[in-house]
Amino acid sequence: MITDQQVAVLTGAANGIGWALARTFARAGYAVALFDIDGDAARARARELSGNHEGFGCDVSDETQVDAAFAAVDARFGRLDALVNNAGIVGSQEPSTEQDMQYFDRITKVIVNGTFLCSRAAYHAMERGGKGAIVNVGSIAGLVGLPRRNSYGAAKAGVHSLTRSLACEWASKGIRVNAVAPGYVATSMVKGLIDKGAIDPARLSRRIPMGRLGTPEEIAEAILFLASDSARYITGSTLSVDGGWAAFGDVGNASEG
Ligand SMILES: NC(=O)c1ccc[n+]([C@@H]2O[C@H](COP(=O)([O-])OP(=O)(O)OC[C@H]3O[C@@H](n4cnc5c(N)ncnc54)[C@H](O)[C@@H]3O)[C@@H](O)[C@H]2O)c1
Repeated sequence: MITDQQVAVLTGAANGIGWALARTFARAGYAVALFDIDGDAARARARELSGNHEGFGCDVSDETQVDAAFAAVDARFGRLDALVNNAGIVGSQEPSTEQDMQYFDRITKVIVNGTFLCSRAAYHAMERGGKGAIVNVGSIAGLVGLPRRNSYGAAKAGVHSLTRSLACEWASKGIRVNAVAPGYVATSMVKGLIDKGAIDPARLSRRIPMGRLGTPEEIAEAILFLASDSARYITGSTLSVDGGWAAFGDVGNASEG
């Protein structure tokens, strides 16, 4: 079935930024394909949106599952206009000398391989349609050094690099590839780090020029812009959506918090 609506695949769509993305894209008129490793949660979220949306179980790090999920999207919607590579897992907070290579590899596989596999799978439908927009969710961790967050930071830097290489390769096909680099956003990922004592929210807020954490909706709206025709001459860019976090280079606090 071919739909008249624009179609967006959003990965990691059952929670946090991904769920805000699903609501934001649906509100903007897209038919949304929600991908999540937790397929039941993705399907439940699609029902919650109510409309021409569908949830799919897909581990983005698994090539077979990714290709099957994109084939299912093609069969269901017949077109693909936007892909947001949002699925991610948080990095280890252990001292580097105690970090486990299994965990290190898993983060790389989900974040770097997942972004590449989904982009590659999306390419064919976008090329057929003559245009498309991919937005990758990077991080401030991929721009600057955050102690102990080795695999996470390296993976996010890899996402920023993939953004540039795919943008240059696919520009002539009408496919734009951009990224956002969120700062700290109040999702369960960050709440988990706060609960473990790995992050002090008050101290963190003082490090942010705007004096507060971001909301999932603020990240989703920036991504919607990059996916839209309003961004039609933008490709290969990484947009900081961080309340000024990455811009701050002075000593001491960036705000009163
Ligand atoms: N929260 C932040 O402060 C923050 C900051 C910068 C970047 N990010 C990035 O934003 C993205 C979303 O983060 P969040 O805070 O919303 O996380 P979250 O943990 O709230 O949600 C992540 C979602 O991704 C899904 N997921 C995990 N592994 C997956 C896999 N292999 N395949 C498919 N789905 C998978 C989870 O089931 C979950 O629904 C991540 O890429 C994260 O690195 C988050």
